[in-house]
Amino acid sequence: MATQPISLEPGPTPWSALRTCVRPVAVLGTGAAVPERTLTNADLAAMVDTSDEWIVTRTGIRERRVVSGQATSDLAIAAGQRALEVAGLSPERLELIVVATVTPDEVCPPVACRVQAGLSARRAAGFDLSAACSGFLNALMTGHRLVAAGAFANCLVIGADVMSAMTDYRQRELCVLFGDAAGAVVLGEPVGRGAILDHVVGLDGRGAGMITTPAGGSRRPASAATVAAGEHFLRMNGKEVFKFAVQKLPEVVDELLVRNGLRIDDLALLVPHQANLRILEAGAKRLGLPMERVVTNVERYGNTAAGSIPLALDEAARSGRIRAGDLVALVSFGGGLSWAGTLLRW
Ligand code: UT7
Repeated sequence: MATQPISLEPGPTPWSALRTCVRPVAVLGTGAAVPERTLTNADLAAMVDTSDEWIVTRTGIRERRVVSGQATSDLAIAAGQRALEVAGLSPERLELIVVATVTPDEVCPPVACRVQAGLSARRAAGFDLSAACSGFLNALMTGHRLVAAGAFANCLVIGADVMSAMTDYRQRELCVLFGDAAGAVVLGEPVGRGAILDHVVGLDGRGAGMITTPAGGSRRPASAATVAAGEHFLRMNGKEVFKFAVQKLPEVVDELLVRNGLRIDDLALLVPHQANLRILEAGAKRLGLPMERVVTNVERYGNTAAGSIPLALDEAARSGRIRAGDLVALVSFGGGLSWAGTLLRW
């Protein structure tokens, strides 16, 4: 690829010069893993005061997967293994592992260490990244930019969360929403036409209190009192997060399209964070995008946080729903408040 020298003169380097000196990077393979155990709406109705009708009408969710004794890294390793197989990359050749999660096996070490050992990826460096439901797309951007800059030849990007570990199954407004899953992509030099094209990321920290786990961190270390008060479980202002999500989803997709001189009709597929079917339908409507071009699996897995987008992407890729050359947008919104979007050519 022809490169253009970057000016050493004072002043900003033109963006066009930077763009031409980075390598193209593509998704070479996808993988996912979910636990075997299924928790249906009927199961939840036996635990709290809820009903299948309420859950389906308000969220679109019918069932979700939950672990029995597995940790986030167990799902992450399985998803990573599958993505490496599809990419045809042996673990020994893997150079970087980035894991997005808010439910690490333990506070220290990072999940990436467990993944590196589990995959026997001896040469790989790695780290975890935390950006709640936007974690996977922040990790994808990070992995993409590091490979594009030539720092690493390839990267395994994983989004993995065991949300059941931070869910209070006595709280009906929360326990119906979440599930456990991991998804992964391998990034590297394109073999066909595919390439990652662009990213949009953002935060509004004024909304940090909208989705929180109050205790177990440095502000409120875990104690018998915090556990008794259930402060190690997730809390969410569902109504406000809903409004934010319905507004952000179309805004982020629109920004990606406008920056790249594209129209909504150019998009073959949108793969959104699977939080609530009503959010996805409202967002698609605002964009003028028919639901046939929106990937949804929230009905089967619920909200799996960082696992959600790579799980949906893997299902779409394996089922042949995404075809070579398709223009695909990924979009997320969630805790932070955070949002992110990625545009790619498959
Ligand atoms: O990934 C991070 C991003 N997170 C999200 O995107 C979540 C965004 N928020 C949501 O998806 C929705 O706000 C929820 C699904 C969480 C809640 O739906 P809602 O339509 O906003 O319901 P609500 O909170 O306004 O509650 C309506 C009623 C309340 O009863 P009253 O006050 O009207 O008598 C709740 O107590 O529904 C009641 N309710 C339930 N009833 C049966 C709340 N949870 C349940 C339940 N079963 N599980």
